[in-house]
Amino acid sequence: MYDFYPFSVVPLQYPYNALEPYIDEKTMFYHHNKHYQAYVDKLNKILEDNPVLQRYDLESLVVKANSLPQSLATEIRNNAGGVYNHKLYFSTMTPNKTQPSDFLLKKINSDFGSFENLKNKLKDNALAQFGSGYAWLVYTNGCLRIIRTANQDVPLLTLNYPLLPVDIWEHAYYLKYQNRRNEYFENWFKIINWDEVEERYILAMNKRC
Ligand SMILES: [Fe+2]
Repeated sequence: MYDFYPFSVVPLQYPYNALEPYIDEKTMFYHHNKHYQAYVDKLNKILEDNPVLQRYDLESLVVKANSLPQSLATEIRNNAGGVYNHKLYFSTMTPNKTQPSDFLLKKINSDFGSFENLKNKLKDNALAQFGSGYAWLVYTNGCLRIIRTANQDVPLLTLNYPLLPVDIWEHAYYLKYQNRRNEYFENWFKIINWDEVEERYILAMNKRC
């Protein structure tokens, strides 16, 4: 349903206004109900026209994209990527106050020096991304790292397992923040679902990219 054709949007686990004042209701509604939905609809249409691809799950489609014929590769990369990235973005935000557990914090301190360093590095990448894309906390070869990707590219394409994305497409923040990506980042950072990030970290430790 969410990971297999026909794909559907994962319902938000909280109301559209639950992240106020950090992310406004209107942005959340259009982002989740229109933009994310559009990627799902486009991906379903592509697979409807290419039934041989219907047996692959979402993660496999994302990873397979580059080995497909060029015209299809771009379509799958953009739209399966859009579905994958948005599913992850919305699930790693919460109106409930969470923080990294001691277990995760120990790893963060080991790989970044401090929690503050992680935040600063993630922010630097979010602000440095030219145009649309994402900045990410990922897990690679036993280490936590920060990377950024353009458009709807997914870290799995470069053998990085994604734990936490910040969406820096303008549709994620422009209605409230206009050009103030820095302010959007600071407020987004307050609503991260660290419980979900830790679940993904544990999953990543037991998985090969
Ligand atoms: Fe988005």
